[in-house]
Amino acid sequence: MNSLMLIIVILLPLCFGADNYSWYPTFHFSPPKGWMNDPNGLSYYNGYYQAFYQYNPYDTESGWMHWGHARSTNLLKWEHLPIALTPSLPEDIDGIFSGSAVVSDGNLILMYTGVSGNSTHQAQCLANSTDGINFDKLGLVLKKNGSDLNFRDPKVWKQGDSWFVIIGSKTDDDRGEVLLYQSLDLKSWDYQGVLAQADETLGYMWECPDFFTLGDKQILLINPQGMEQNGYDYQNLYQTGYFVGTWQPGEQYIIEKGFKEIDHGHDFYASQTFLAPDGRRILIGWLDMWESVFPERQEGWAGMLTLPRELTLSLNGTIEIRPIREVEDYRTEDVVSNNSVTLNDDSIFVLKEQVTSNEIIIELDPVKSNASTYGVRLGDEDQGVFVYVDTEKQRLFVERSYPQFNISRSDRSVAVDLSNPIYLDIFVDSSSIEVFVNDGESVLSSRIYPTELQRSLAVFHSEGSVTVNKYSIWNI
Ligand code: FRU
Repeated sequence: MNSLMLIIVILLPLCFGADNYSWYPTFHFSPPKGWMNDPNGLSYYNGYYQAFYQYNPYDTESGWMHWGHARSTNLLKWEHLPIALTPSLPEDIDGIFSGSAVVSDGNLILMYTGVSGNSTHQAQCLANSTDGINFDKLGLVLKKNGSDLNFRDPKVWKQGDSWFVIIGSKTDDDRGEVLLYQSLDLKSWDYQGVLAQADETLGYMWECPDFFTLGDKQILLINPQGMEQNGYDYQNLYQTGYFVGTWQPGEQYIIEKGFKEIDHGHDFYASQTFLAPDGRRILIGWLDMWESVFPERQEGWAGMLTLPRELTLSLNGTIEIRPIREVEDYRTEDVVSNNSVTLNDDSIFVLKEQVTSNEIIIELDPVKSNASTYGVRLGDEDQGVFVYVDTEKQRLFVERSYPQFNISRSDRSVAVDLSNPIYLDIFVDSSSIEVFVNDGESVLSSRIYPTELQRSLAVFHSEGSVTVNKYSIWNI
């Protein structure tokens, strides 16, 4: 073999390898092809968790929206099912927008926003299923008097003998609001008034509202459009966050705390919660943001859901957020597990060479570290995702940079207490990272686009030292 041939033989697999990776997730939900956004109709019916989602099967862009459908027995491995809802009625002919599901008399009922009139009208419609797979439309049930251009995303629940629904909307002077209705049969609805409304800081439209009880409080989760960035807060195009308050039927919602973002990463929106049969309040979000780049379009799909998260109320009245415990059953192999590591020189410490589908638990020790920045990175010095503590700013950052895919360097962050170890539970899938901080305190979710050559995970630090108290890495 001459030397040219030898070089070709050596380089060929490398070229192939680099082309061969896929950003399609292994333990997160994504559509089989086409575009997805919001999770819809999260519920438990017929022995399965049910997840529907905003779906355009014809393109990798948002467009003529349907409800895609999948089911699961463990919230992690999803079975794709036939499309549940396709536009067909005069009321939903331009699109089936977001909504929710409830079980009533053994049937699975979907309430969704039908879009019509060249997308100028939004109204709420019902569909019914007796097998959890096939859906019969029951048509229009709730319209808004006056402008109905922004009247969408019904979230239904039952309390006592009544059904309640909240719907996202806006006032005539462009402030987001949530409207409340009540019904005895899910078909005929009475307006109960405004549940909550934006002041001038809280955006011009509230999408995908959700309302539920945690502990002895009622949480209103909203997705405001049009909030201004405020320092480290509200850095994304749109936000998802919550109020803590108290409410009972027939009374005003009294807000005690809020507004507070529920996820602090680059990509989280339009989440929905539901009550699992064992009483857990579970939240799933769209792990994306409107108008972002979606490099996975080149693979024929776009959009994914977050890991399901369990919500609880902390003693100080904020929401604690943790990955559902089912993920522990998905740890297939204990790749690395170790005790303390200290780096004194300017070296990096490689934790694992190929990280594509992994959970990484790592405890950084600010008291034993004196570098001004330290953390873990997936990628190389310049490109990739960097999860690090900045001691001066007293914050934990998730910074990403994928210039070859038009994703320029930018960071998101949360405040951290540097007098205690910082415990991170990190989930890396083919094109996502979710960083859970200090067992419930906060979470940052972002899409990432590493090539095969940017999958090495290492501890890094600036001048000085860093101490990692312990770490574990699992394949998922
Ligand atoms: C939120 C949203 C919803 C709407 C749906 C349309 O991301 O804009 O308000 O129902 O997406 O796909």
